[in-house]
Amino acid sequence: MSRTIFYTATTLDGFLADDHHSLDWLLTQPIDEVGPFSYGAFIATIGAIAMGASTYEWVLRHNETSGDPWAYEEPSWVFTHRDLPLAADSVQLTAAPVAEVHAAMTAAADGRDVWVVGGGDLAAQFAEAGLLDEVVVSIAPVTVGSGKPLFPRRFDLELLEVDRNRAFVCARYRVVGPRLPPD
Ligand SMILES: NC(=O)c1ccc[n+]([C@@H]2O[C@H](COP(=O)([O-])OP(=O)(O)OC[C@H]3O[C@@H](n4cnc5c(N)ncnc54)[C@H](OP(=O)(O)O)[C@@H]3O)[C@@H](O)[C@H]2O)c1
Repeated sequence: MSRTIFYTATTLDGFLADDHHSLDWLLTQPIDEVGPFSYGAFIATIGAIAMGASTYEWVLRHNETSGDPWAYEEPSWVFTHRDLPLAADSVQLTAAPVAEVHAAMTAAADGRDVWVVGGGDLAAQFAEAGLLDEVVVSIAPVTVGSGKPLFPRRFDLELLEVDRNRAFVCARYRVVGPRLPPD
């Protein structure tokens, strides 16, 4: 049974990127590439990918600077209202409801898991539609004060697993459901 997972790194104060979409705080951290919660082990389980426009544009900028090709073999959906350039044949742009896209992703994943890369609001949109099973975070020992938030809606989660990978505290949570506002 395919799970839908928001797998990401975050700052200790809950941001995916700073105000300028920089990941400098992340890319400078020591990490064991084959250690607990490693990206390599995770991506091997993934059959389809979704991301928001800012995340996609970050990847495009990064690839342009580094000369790297599009890194994902899996079919990928980019949520946007704009006509962004396509990085590969496996990429499609969408502004369809998340439930509709999720059904297509799950079919494409063919039993493998679905990865919501980010940003945080897009992941929370999947959660609000009842379509996000897990949040998996690697927490870097850094704060940035403000930026692009990890998961900017109210949810209860259940802690399933914790480990350490060098500088990172890694945790896996089950999405329980929306958390009602206080009275
Ligand atoms: N720390 C990490 O490991 C990690 C992981 C993921 C991302 N990031 C970074 O975090 C930042 C996230 O940026 P962000 O918060 O702006 O989030 P984002 O989800 O990457 O981008 C937000 C944009 O996605 C589009 N979008 C979102 N929901 C949509 C929907 N339902 N339908 C159509 N379009 C939709 C809109 O773009 P339009 O302007 O086209 O309407 C929206 O402005 C990026 O800098 C990214 O590189 C870091």
